[in-house]
Amino acid sequence: MEKLSAVAKTLTPSPIQELSFLAQRRNAINLAEGFPDFPAPSSIKDAAVSAINSDFNQYRHVQGICDLLARKMKEMHGLDVDPQTDIAICCGQTEAFASAIFASTLIAFSSYFLLKAIESLIFHARYCAESIFVKLLYVSTAIDPGDEVILFDPSFETYEGCITLAGGVPVFVALDPPHWSLDPQKLINSCTSKTKAIVVNSPQNPTGKVFTRAELEIIAKVCCTSDFLAITDEVYEHLTFDEEKHISLASLPGMQKRTIITSSLSKTYSVTGWRIGWAIAASHFASAIRNFHIRITDSAPAPFQEAALTALRSPSEYYETLRADYKWKRDYMLELLDGLGFQIEYKPQGSFFVFVELPQSCKLSDVEFVKELIEKAGVVAVPGRGFFHAKLPSEKLHRAGLDYHERYIRFAFCKSNATLATAWQKLNELVDSTGHLRLFN
Ligand SMILES: Cc1ncc(COP(=O)(O)O)c(C=O)c1O
Repeated sequence: MEKLSAVAKTLTPSPIQELSFLAQRRNAINLAEGFPDFPAPSSIKDAAVSAINSDFNQYRHVQGICDLLARKMKEMHGLDVDPQTDIAICCGQTEAFASAIFASTLIAFSSYFLLKAIESLIFHARYCAESIFVKLLYVSTAIDPGDEVILFDPSFETYEGCITLAGGVPVFVALDPPHWSLDPQKLINSCTSKTKAIVVNSPQNPTGKVFTRAELEIIAKVCCTSDFLAITDEVYEHLTFDEEKHISLASLPGMQKRTIITSSLSKTYSVTGWRIGWAIAASHFASAIRNFHIRITDSAPAPFQEAALTALRSPSEYYETLRADYKWKRDYMLELLDGLGFQIEYKPQGSFFVFVELPQSCKLSDVEFVKELIEKAGVVAVPGRGFFHAKLPSEKLHRAGLDYHERYIRFAFCKSNATLATAWQKLNELVDSTGHLRLFN
């Protein structure tokens, strides 16, 4: 007997997941997934081991994380954050974002669907859904069907799903290729009386775009004029290159009180599996997020919270070395892809991804190209279409002038130099006499 909920039925594997299976079967070099394959810093790992040996085994809230984050917010962005009231520690940015959506944007269309949505998110995050689901029965929500949340396109995949599962309506504002610049008029035209919030991810996955101060000022003006919230995803806050500096939207005039900052240890300290993240916001938002967090997962993993204290105390040299190492990897990847004949009009200014276009000569779509890349070169990347959201069939995409949605490939360079060198070698085994990938002919 079929017992799946209506929501569960909407969560089917994507064609991109099929490529993952193919890559696994082929044991392909993984330039697809956004997590490092090199070790995390030893001092942080030692702190985690020591916490386990000291029996930090129970539910835990480590207030020291909030104290350190408040200090960091002051130093990096000049923000005054009360560590007692304005921070919620969560299981990664993913949970912080989901809780921010559920807690503050009032976008549940029925308690039933909200519970199912959280249950499914939790399942996705590999937590024990049974006991959590019982706890969720005590969650009550404001019901406000159809609230709209603005997302930029392309964007990281999880936002859309999270908003939709919660009953909200994602509204996409296309960033203009090739530099992924923000057209203020497009943003303004997308705002309606139903808009509740704007999500800003900078530095951005997949493009590596770092929103400029001028662009953030436009977003801030729209938020302040129309009384919108902003939810930021700043997981790549320490990964900016060249002259670029990360600016938090919350630091712009009038924005701190209406911004929920989300971030985590994952990318900065190469510990995506530790699941330590946070939301920083005005106390009433932070408290609502904490209430969700407590009901969903009780607490983030105790030993890793302890280790977070060591991570967050890292000296400035740690971040400088991290940036320098990643800049080297970015340049290596760009040189590789440029040599192979990809069209590279935008050099990523942040994150650890490059988002490059297939050359005109290539007749394959992004998905077809990645499939061939796996089979012929033993290297896997991500077809760009998963990050674009105008869900139109191919011929309509062309008519709408959005055919570029099927022309981009995302390569992750958060890999050891040895992995990158192997990828270089494998890809160069697949070139023609001009040095370009044979798949482009
Ligand atoms: C933009 C962005 N936000 C959030 C995450 C996930 O962060 P966390 O591991 O803290 O849940 C990722 C992971 O790829 C990401 O690219």
